[in-house]
Amino acid sequence: MVSTTLALPVPAILGGPRAVTLDAREANRWPIITDEDVAAVAEVLRSGELSLHPVTRALEDDYRALLGVRHAVACCNGTSAIFAALHAFGLEPGDQVLCPSATYWASVMPVLWCGGVPVFCETETTQCGLDPADVERKITPRTKAMVIVHLWGMPSRMDELMTLARRHNLKVFEDASHAHGATWRGQPLGTFGDAAVLSLQTNKLAPAGEGGMLVTNDDAIAEHVTCLGHFERVIDLKTPARRFAGTGFGMKHRMSPLSAAVARTQLKHLAERNARRNENLAYLSQRLEPMGFNTFLPPPEAQRVYFMFMIENHEERTRIPTRLLVEALKAEGCDAAYPRYPLLHQQPVFTEDRFIDLARLRHLLRETLPTYRADDLPNTIAANQRLIQLPPFPRADRALLDQYVEAFEKVLAAANQIAASRAA
Ligand SMILES: Cc1ncc(COP(=O)(O)O)c(C=O)c1O
Repeated sequence: MVSTTLALPVPAILGGPRAVTLDAREANRWPIITDEDVAAVAEVLRSGELSLHPVTRALEDDYRALLGVRHAVACCNGTSAIFAALHAFGLEPGDQVLCPSATYWASVMPVLWCGGVPVFCETETTQCGLDPADVERKITPRTKAMVIVHLWGMPSRMDELMTLARRHNLKVFEDASHAHGATWRGQPLGTFGDAAVLSLQTNKLAPAGEGGMLVTNDDAIAEHVTCLGHFERVIDLKTPARRFAGTGFGMKHRMSPLSAAVARTQLKHLAERNARRNENLAYLSQRLEPMGFNTFLPPPEAQRVYFMFMIENHEERTRIPTRLLVEALKAEGCDAAYPRYPLLHQQPVFTEDRFIDLARLRHLLRETLPTYRADDLPNTIAANQRLIQLPPFPRADRALLDQYVEAFEKVLAAANQIAASRAA
């Protein structure tokens, strides 16, 4: 009997044709700007009220309604809003703040400017947020607060984290910058902690260009952030803080009404645009999970959204190292990359003590920070090395997604050959 072997398609990295031939520019274009955005901005422009315009208050009303919170304060970006929220927590020099290392720097750097000491905790790999067990290990009598980041739009493990926070009387700040529209047990993210921020920067799910929405149910926090960064509103306060109307507390965090106009029209489309991403990524997940990838499917308690689509490569299942896989996928025409954020605890800001002097922070912190070591947080480091970033496909259709699936299939089928070609 003659045995025949079916020839496998040659992967592009070994000289074969690319799997992804469709033009993905439109499928991945973000933000989606239509005449509605243009008209909204034009209306503000024509009014000539380019600093103070009612559209900013209207945007805050939208967020209050969306999240069901008492206060929403529009800020010029998420970073300034995070600083304001943490400042309102009243950190004393040396107060410790539990936070993730796997996040964008703005989740953590404002802690330093409030005199606090970031204490980095491991990120767990089912929901991409703070690992409750490591958080619990790192709580000390000096711990004052916790920064919870709903990374990539995946809700963190809120039951355990909020239980710990209550038990130890910690303030909770939620960085919901990636998570517009996501819920945990039906409750919107951004409404669990003492205060939260949603970034409205261009890449985010409801973008303004630049902007950040600070939300809180706490009147004292709202009053503090108003005094800190919105001096023009201090006059409206019905509390003794009204006497600071002439100066505020010295910062200026006001959002541009042009940004607010964009943010309002974008927010109107949040649900429908989130749904498109979710539908596309549910499909891709369903195709990639059986190949051995973890696509971060949400647990039953969570309704997740997709700021980014990250997948985790388990080499023992796929038989190809992550770096090589990314290289091979790129050769196939996929927009694949390594994780977007470098781990914070490995950055010079934390590993070189001199930063504190360079940034003129010594007087705020008063005492030295702990020694941060680049090899701390071994689980987070290992998990980060397994991550691959793919586009969130905001407007893709099935044909493009199927070409991505084909690229993965081709590369995995030839994993041994690809690895051997590199070793040769
Ligand atoms: C997790 C996270 N937090 C905070 C920010 C800061 O927001 P902004 O860029 O609006 O200052 C960003 C993004 O840019 C972010 O990704």
